[in-house]
Amino acid sequence: MGDIVEKHLTGDSVFKEESTLFREYVPDKLPRREKEIARLTRDFKPLTSKKGAFSVNVAIIGNAGIGKTSIAKYFMERFPKSAEKVGKKVYCVYYNCYTYRTKSSILRHLLNKYFNVFSTRGFSDNELLSDLMKSLNKQDSHLILILDEANVLGGEDILSFIYIPEAFEFGQSRISTILISRLTEFNSLLNVQLSERIHDKIQLSGYNEDDLREILGYRAELAFKNNVVSTDVFDQVVSIAANTQNARHGIEIFYHAGKIADQEELSYITPEMVRKAKAYVYPELRSSVLEELKEQELFVSIAIARHLKKDNIAHTSIDEVYEFYKIVCEENGETPQAKVTFRRHIDVLAKTGIIYKVVEPVGGGKRGRRSIITLQDIPAEVLEEKCTNILEKNEK
Ligand SMILES: Nc1ncnc2c1ncn2[C@@H]1O[C@H](COP(=O)(O)OP(=O)(O)OP(=O)(O)O)[C@@H](O)[C@H]1O
Ligand SMILES: [Mg+2]
Repeated sequence: MGDIVEKHLTGDSVFKEESTLFREYVPDKLPRREKEIARLTRDFKPLTSKKGAFSVNVAIIGNAGIGKTSIAKYFMERFPKSAEKVGKKVYCVYYNCYTYRTKSSILRHLLNKYFNVFSTRGFSDNELLSDLMKSLNKQDSHLILILDEANVLGGEDILSFIYIPEAFEFGQSRISTILISRLTEFNSLLNVQLSERIHDKIQLSGYNEDDLREILGYRAELAFKNNVVSTDVFDQVVSIAANTQNARHGIEIFYHAGKIADQEELSYITPEMVRKAKAYVYPELRSSVLEELKEQELFVSIAIARHLKKDNIAHTSIDEVYEFYKIVCEENGETPQAKVTFRRHIDVLAKTGIIYKVVEPVGGGKRGRRSIITLQDIPAEVLEEKCTNILEKNEK
C-alpha cells in the first residue's frame, strides 16, 4: 500500500498549485475589480482621516460568483495595514453569516478573539456591545465588520451593531459594516432605518467574456503547469462561464477538469474532461441527484422552492414549508404525510446538498430550537421546474 500512496503523493499532476482553486483562496490580484476596490477604499477613508466616533456602512451586492466576497477579503487584508501607517487602529473582521448566524455569536467571537474579553456567557447582547464599545473607545479604534451573506442575519440584528451603541453613553458608534448579499436577497434584508444608514451601495455586474478571459487566464496560470490548458480548452471554459457571468463557475470547472486529468493520468485537460466537469458544477445542480429523489421528496423540494420564490425570501422554516407541501400533495392527488415523516424528507434533501438546513436556538435558546431551510446553489425557480419535469416524466 505504501507504494501507491507514495506514487500518488509525489507523482505527476496537472496542478502547479491546486489550492489556488479552492473556495477560500483569495488571489493577490482581482483583475477587472480595481474600480470597485478603489471605491470601497474611498468609502472608508474617513476612518483614517477624521477623529472620533462614527460609522460608515457599505453594501456590496450582486449575483453569484462575481467577486463580492473576494473584494471584501482583499480589502480586509490591506486596509488596516494602510490605516496603521497613518497612525489609525482599524480592525477589519470577516463573518460569514451562514456560520455565525446570530448577533450574539458574532459578538462573543469578536470579544474573545480580538479584545481578550472572555467568559461572556450570561451577558446580554447589549452588555456585550457595551464592552465592545468600551474597548474601541479606550483604544480610539474603529471596527469594520464584514457581514457576508448578511441576509441570513437579518436587518434588525445588523442595525443593532451600528445603532444600539448610539443609545449608550458613548454617543456615536465606532462600528462600521460592509454588508454582502446576493441581489435577490438584499431587499429582504433592508428595512427603512438600515437603508438610511447605508452610505454606498456597490452593485457589481456579472463578468462578460472579456472579463472572464482575463480573470480565468490569471487563475489558470496560478493553478496549472504549462501546456495543461490548451487554447481550445480555455475558450471552452470561458464560454461556459460567460453564460452565467460567474467566475466561480469557470474556476470550479477548471478544478474538476484538473482532477479528472490526474485520475486519468494525463498531463493535459481535454474538452471531454471540461464537459464532464461542467456536469458537477453550479449553476447546473447535478440532475442525477434530483432524478434519484422519491416522489414525496420531490413534493417537498417543490414546496420549498415555491415558498421561497413566491414570498421572495432567503430562508424558511419547516412549519412554513409544510403548508406548501400539503398543497403540492393535493395537486398531485396524494395524501400529505405526517410531519414526522415530512421532516425525514427534509433531512434527505439536506444530505444531498439540494437544500441547506441549520438548526438555531429560538429566543436565546429558551424557546427551544428550530430548523431554518434555504437553497444553497440552485435558484428556486430552476429547482421547481426540474422537480416538476421529473414528476411528469415518472408518471409516464
Ligand atoms: N476579479 C477576479 N479576479 C480573480 N478571481 C476572481 C475575481 N472575481 C471572482 N474571482 C474568483 O471567483 C470565485 C467567486 O468569487 P466570490 O466568492 O468573490 O463571489 P461572490 O460574488 O461572493 O459569490 P457568492 O454570491 O456566490 O458568494 C472566487 O474563487 C474568486 O476568487
Ligand atoms: Mg460570496
